[in-house]
Amino acid sequence: MTALPTRTAHNGFTLPAIGLGTYRLNGAEGAAAIAAGIDSGYRLIDSAFNYENEGTVGRGVADAATDRSEVIVTTKLPGRHHPIEKARTSIEESRFRLGLDATDLHLIHWPNPIQDEYVQAWTALVDAQQRGVVRQIGVSNFLPEHLERLEHETGVRPVVNQIELHPYFPQEEQLAYHREHGIITEAWSPIGRAKALLEEPVIVEVAAAHEISPAQAVLAWHVARESVAIPKASSLEHQRANLAAASVVLGDDEVAAITALGRADGRLFDADPRTHEES
Ligand SMILES: NC(=O)c1ccc[n+]([C@@H]2O[C@H](COP(=O)([O-])OP(=O)(O)OC[C@H]3O[C@@H](n4cnc5c(N)ncnc54)[C@H](OP(=O)(O)O)[C@@H]3O)[C@@H](O)[C@H]2O)c1
Repeated sequence: MTALPTRTAHNGFTLPAIGLGTYRLNGAEGAAAIAAGIDSGYRLIDSAFNYENEGTVGRGVADAATDRSEVIVTTKLPGRHHPIEKARTSIEESRFRLGLDATDLHLIHWPNPIQDEYVQAWTALVDAQQRGVVRQIGVSNFLPEHLERLEHETGVRPVVNQIELHPYFPQEEQLAYHREHGIITEAWSPIGRAKALLEEPVIVEVAAAHEISPAQAVLAWHVARESVAIPKASSLEHQRANLAAASVVLGDDEVAAITALGRADGRLFDADPRTHEES
């Protein structure tokens, strides 16, 4: 199995360039898909309290032949659990559902700036990390102003920010901000949920030039831009193809041509972190 490239955060924590998304992988079928994914080479698994599949992910990790210590299991704290006492309980609840001694990476799912309680959630995560029940802590859908406030108020900088990122929404400025601060960028919906994006002529052309699929061309674009893509794939065929994309090297001109698909209204749905409030 070829080793995947890795990305390193400001504290030395590393992640492989491709992980497995699990939104809508549930129940016995989901657990089998996750176990198969791990045994085919995935070492980073994404989950969230709100996906109602932490039990499924825990079962998949336990059923895989690969040792649990080799896998980085991620989950996310939901918006309704930001108040500090609720956050403390939520962190325990996620760990119990996953069936793990410690979650490897625990993120705040959304900043919910109108609710304005994300610093409390962060304080609970910092505390959980100090107690050893969470190994690494980060965030999702945070803008630079939210990241700066966390560090200013607690002295602790997230290691990861998981954001919407695909060729329709390439987020160049946010990526540059993360790079400057040693925050690893994780890309959610990295292949645009396998819809219109994969039919874009420029992507089809790049794919044909490298004899790969359009989904692999998009994943190679993420690898070239040094973010960590977490495509969700239920079939072993898609899982393997997505991992293999990590070794495809695109030319600078190909990367630029794909990035040029970006547009101001490129989000897949109305999920602007300034206004979106996730319960
Ligand atoms: N932090 C957040 O707010 C947030 C928001 C959204 C998502 N996420 C995370 O990000 C993960 C990925 O995002 P996503 O699930 O929204 O979208 P995605 O990964 O961009 O797309 C998933 C879709 O692509 C298909 N697919 C996978 N590999 C393929 C391939 N090689 N060729 C063709 N089709 C392929 C999958 O089908 P099959 O299943 O049939 O293979 C599925 O329908 C989620 O699962 C979740 O873990 C986080």
